[in-house]
Amino acid sequence: MCGIIGITGRDDAVDGIVAGLQRLEYRGYDSAGLVAAGANQLRVVKRAGKLDNLIGALKGSGLSARAGIGHTRWATHGEPNDRNSHPHTDPTGRVAVVHNGILENYQQLRRQLPDQRFASDTDTEVAAHLVARELDRMDDPDLFEAVRRVVAGLEGAYSLCFTATDEPDTIVVAKNEAPLIVAHADGVGYCASDVAALIAHTRDVAALIDGQLAKITPEGVEVTDVDGNASEPHAYTVQWDVEAAEKQGYEHFMLKEIHEQPTAVRETLRDRITDDGGQQGGGRLHLDELAIDERDLARIDKVFILACGTSLHAGMVGKLAIEHWAGIPVDVEVASEFRYRDPIVDAHTLVIAISQSGETSDTIAAASHARDQRAPVIGLCNVVGSTLAREADGVLYTHAGPEVGVAATKTFVTQIIGCLLLGLYLAQVRGRLYPSECQDILERLQQIPGAIDEILAQDGDIAELAKRYAETDYTMFIGRHAGLPIAYEGALKLKEISYLHAEAFPAGEMKHGPIALIEEGSLVVALAPEGHVFSKMVSNIQEVRARGADVIAIGSAGTTSDLKDHADHVLTLPEAPHELATPVLATIPLQLFAYHVATIRGEDVDKPRNLAKTVTVE
Ligand code: AGP
Repeated sequence: MCGIIGITGRDDAVDGIVAGLQRLEYRGYDSAGLVAAGANQLRVVKRAGKLDNLIGALKGSGLSARAGIGHTRWATHGEPNDRNSHPHTDPTGRVAVVHNGILENYQQLRRQLPDQRFASDTDTEVAAHLVARELDRMDDPDLFEAVRRVVAGLEGAYSLCFTATDEPDTIVVAKNEAPLIVAHADGVGYCASDVAALIAHTRDVAALIDGQLAKITPEGVEVTDVDGNASEPHAYTVQWDVEAAEKQGYEHFMLKEIHEQPTAVRETLRDRITDDGGQQGGGRLHLDELAIDERDLARIDKVFILACGTSLHAGMVGKLAIEHWAGIPVDVEVASEFRYRDPIVDAHTLVIAISQSGETSDTIAAASHARDQRAPVIGLCNVVGSTLAREADGVLYTHAGPEVGVAATKTFVTQIIGCLLLGLYLAQVRGRLYPSECQDILERLQQIPGAIDEILAQDGDIAELAKRYAETDYTMFIGRHAGLPIAYEGALKLKEISYLHAEAFPAGEMKHGPIALIEEGSLVVALAPEGHVFSKMVSNIQEVRARGADVIAIGSAGTTSDLKDHADHVLTLPEAPHELATPVLATIPLQLFAYHVATIRGEDVDKPRNLAKTVTVE
């Protein structure tokens, strides 16, 4: 996620901004920049890549100022390069802005300025142009008022931070659905995306509430609502040290990222429907980054989903979704296997390569192997501008934000959402679903974030179960249909962070071998949410229970009472908006279970042994 820092009232504001950006590095970024504010000029320095590139560019520049704003960018619109890095200015260099979030109506806003040239591909730049236009229109230019007028017309998620030559000591910020903290200490005003950037200066901060703006000067911070009326932010004293502040109070990044899942899902689902002009009675699902001609997609007769690890498990849900909605046969394959055999691939085969990092060499190589045989490739990635995203014919981004923990959590659930979107989209393109049907399903999917919140509230019960089973050497996960990918994922999560042996099997396969492993005290985690295979799962649970296994069943609201007679413990999921959305919900308790088992065992949850976040070697 992008990071913002603003400082006004210190002779060494530029150094302070760089130090603040270093504190924000943990959020993940692909470029960094800052603006030193002055009455005659706003001096912008920005560089793609690591912060060191920016620091190198500043070295020897003699850049200094009493105020400025800085930014680390996690690309959402436009490639991560120098040009798209923040800050952005209007064409005259009067106003500069940095932004965290997505301005959904930026294209409409750009159309309000038909004569202006834009220097970047970002959604953000238009905000600087619009504020400059407002300042031009005022007899007595006032930055705060200009920002207030512009913000009233913005749609989407944003924390925005502006400076202008008119008032170089003033920083104006606005917040909606993206975090922003303000503070004032010892004659210096501050703003930042999170307390990690400010903790070296003060622990007394205030978090802005959605719809609030603030004017920050060396004299203090004034907060208003969007109408300009005085408004109270949420003031508090930070109790954390710097390390804890980066994790926003969570003990580990993994836990923080588990809790970010409702937001991550919301972002991935955001803004996917366009108005069809009333042609077919509704909006059309659009995946605009795909950039593959719909006519080509309509001719596809086979799909390969290629991925590794957790991404492969998301792909297994993708297979169910595409076969169910679009009616195209799908093979899901480990990327490192695909490239060494002779897969039957041609121009009518669609390849979907799933990789959160977009840098996994096995997945990239498999996708290019398919492209060599003229297959169109869609990358399902989290990192904008990553190698896979660049090399694929089209890309669908999960908007989960950067993931620091090695164990994938929020990127997994958003990959599943991405797969559901692809399934619906292919169905729409091939005329298997009316736009209104797609829209209906999409609307139901909007219930997922709230349902995840309900599951997160069961953390205490899950931690108790983890305590009870933390010394269990071997855990078997079983599932069918949409539960099976989650059985695989549950086993992977447990083994990768707790180093306990865990395996997953299709529940129907148990009697063909694996059930021989079951003995008194074995632990079986059974995925048994509501759905058309529920009664089959109950039979499988009975089989392992009869042989002495302890069973933890993951059920759902409608099935809990049936499960209670057969399982030792039942964790209840809220009702899923669609059977194919159950995997998103069912994975949450298993992430928490693995997390608690690993922490009880004292393992390094965020950096498990022998593993790397991104595997760029074969
Ligand atoms: C999951 O917890 C692991 N970190 C790992 O399996 C990961 O999913 C795999 O290496 C693929 O990574 P990618 O999504 O970045 O391609």
